[in-house]
Amino acid sequence: MAKWEIGIDGMADILEIIRLRRSTRTPFDPNRHVSKENLGQIMEAARWAPTAHNMQNFEILVVDDEEVLEEIGKIKSQVSEAFIRENYQQLSFSKEELLQKKIGILGANFPPDWRDLAKLDKAVRESSRSPLNQNIRGSPLLLIVIYDPRKRAPASEGDVLGFISLGCVMENMWLMAQSLGISVQILSVFSGESVEKEVKRILEVPEHMKIAFAIRLGYPISKPGEQLRVRRDTEMFAHHNILGNKGSG
Ligand SMILES: Cc1cc2nc3c(=O)[nH]c(=O)nc-3n(C[C@H](O)[C@H](O)[C@H](O)COP(=O)(O)O)c2cc1C
Repeated sequence: MAKWEIGIDGMADILEIIRLRRSTRTPFDPNRHVSKENLGQIMEAARWAPTAHNMQNFEILVVDDEEVLEEIGKIKSQVSEAFIRENYQQLSFSKEELLQKKIGILGANFPPDWRDLAKLDKAVRESSRSPLNQNIRGSPLLLIVIYDPRKRAPASEGDVLGFISLGCVMENMWLMAQSLGISVQILSVFSGESVEKEVKRILEVPEHMKIAFAIRLGYPISKPGEQLRVRRDTEMFAHHNILGNKGSG
C-alpha cells in the first residue's frame, strides 16, 4: 500500500466510531473532568476540520471554570412556540413507529403535553423559563463555537458553505470525543437569541459574533439507558445516477 493510502487500514475503526457516536442527554459527573490531553486531542480534531476556502471560520471558547459554568447555568431560557410545534412533527409515539419510520425522535423523550396534539396549545402557554443548568446537567466542560457572520465563504449565498464548515468542526470534535470515551450533547439552546446574548456577555464575546453551537462534554454519572437510535437504510437515500433510480444498474 502506498504511503499516501495510510488510513485505509483504519477504515473499520472509523466506521465503528461513527456508529458509536451518540447524543448523551443524562447528567454528567461534575467532578470527573476531561483531561487536558483529551481536550487537546478534541481541539486538534477541530483544527483539522475541512472548511470552505480553508477559512477556518470558527473560534472555540473552552469553558471549564466552575464559577463561569455556574453563571452560565443561571441564565434562563424559554422553549419557543415554534420549537414545541415543529418538534411534535418529528415525534414517533412508540418504538415500533420509530423503527418503521427510521427518522425522527421518540416522543417519550419529551414532556407529556408536548406529545399530545390536543395539548400543544397548553404546552405553548405554559412553557416557562428554566435555568440552563437543566441543560448543562453537571457537565464540567462546555465548548462554545462562535463565528463572525460578517464574513462568508466566497459567493456563498447565506454562507451555507460557512455553516457546513462549522458542521464539519462539530463532527470532528464529536468523533474524537467518542473515540476517547467522552460523552457529548449538542445544546442548541445556546444559539437562541436571549440565551446567546447572555452567554456572550459572560464570556465577553463581541456583539457582532454569533454562537454556532455549544456542546457539553463529560462522563455520565451513571450508565445511560439504552436509546433507540434509528437511521434510514442506505437505499432509501441513495439514488443511482438519476434521482429516484433505486436500481444499481
Ligand atoms: C445541528 C444539531 C443540533 C442539535 N441540537 C440538539 C439539542 O439541542 N439537544 C439535543 O439533545 N440534541 C441535539 N442534537 C442531536 C440530535 O438530536 C441527534 O444527533 C439525533 O437525534 C440523532 O441521535 P444520535 O446523535 O444519538 O445519533 C442536535 C444535532 C445537530 C446535528
